[in-house]
Amino acid sequence: ATARPGVPEGTPMVPPQDLPSRPRRNRRSPTIRQAISETRIGPENLLLPVFVHDGEDNIPIASMPGVDRLGWRHGLLQSVRDARAYGVNSVVLFPKTPDHLKTRTGEEAYNDNGLVQRSIRLLKDTFPDLEVYTDVALDPYNSDGHDGIVRDDGVIMNDETVECLCRQAISQARAGADCVSPSDMMDGRVGAIRQALDDEGFSHVSIMAYTAKYASAFYGPFRDALASAPSTGKLGRVIPPNKRTYQQDPANYREALREARLDEAEGADIMMVKPGLPYLDVIRLLRDNSSLPIAAYHVSGEYAMLKAAALQGWLDEREAVLESLLSLKRAGADIILTYYAGQAARWMAGEGAALKPVA
Ligand code: PBG
Repeated sequence: ATARPGVPEGTPMVPPQDLPSRPRRNRRSPTIRQAISETRIGPENLLLPVFVHDGEDNIPIASMPGVDRLGWRHGLLQSVRDARAYGVNSVVLFPKTPDHLKTRTGEEAYNDNGLVQRSIRLLKDTFPDLEVYTDVALDPYNSDGHDGIVRDDGVIMNDETVECLCRQAISQARAGADCVSPSDMMDGRVGAIRQALDDEGFSHVSIMAYTAKYASAFYGPFRDALASAPSTGKLGRVIPPNKRTYQQDPANYREALREARLDEAEGADIMMVKPGLPYLDVIRLLRDNSSLPIAAYHVSGEYAMLKAAALQGWLDEREAVLESLLSLKRAGADIILTYYAGQAARWMAGEGAALKPVA
């Protein structure tokens, strides 16, 4: 046998294959790989969800290491300032409501001086160009832990809830919200909120609809963060233990298209799919069937999985997170809501390539 320089001994000697197409030629060097890279993602695509509470200290969330319930003054501003320093200029607010302010009809949702409303005003006063999104749904304020009003027999009342959501959206718009995001999955809420906002002089306020929101197990850590899980039955009343009469069945694909057509007709500006990675097919479905921007929510359970594996040393956190976010973009999402927004933007800027996961 003739010596082949650099080739390990024992490598089979074969004649070259007669291949007209060798895809590996386009992966030969970083330069060619970068030149033909199909998907780009930057901090401008990221939207940071934040949990706020009506106190001063930041309180860690056990099931989401590295994410805190932020004190609505100092902690919130600091966290937004940090994200903005790396180009993330969008934030969505989720309030932790103390039990004594929760009621069966959740009227704290439209208290003009509530925690979310105060937080919006503080953010817009401090960072006028920050894009402030809000969540529209009753669950943080509802003593039964549901996104809508629960009747004594356990039915989640649709049209009555929609009326409350309109009041909530108006109150948030009045405080200065740029975009309200109904996450409740009641029928007809996008159109009703659009009409209510327009009637009150808020035609400039956008709606990001949670269009295809699934009844998912991946929201667990979020419900820990806000103590907002459906509560157990109260004397003489039925409280459904899950949200399956309004959130979509994870088995369903076509149903997402039906929701998308309705939300688009009702005036949504952006449509969301939630959760993210388990539903890439649904993101692609909406992308291919609408000209609206699409958002994807990389939810609390997805964060928790990555963080847990990273803390065990089982995954390279930076690589795994950036690949996850890139995949959401590749599937068709323009906007990605992720608890990793600040950290990911820092990684995208080339910082901390070798950092250990932060608990
Ligand atoms: C509720 C709401 C939920 C999330 C966002 N808004 C939870 C739920 O539907 O029970 C979950 C977000 C996450 O898990 O990160 N309106």
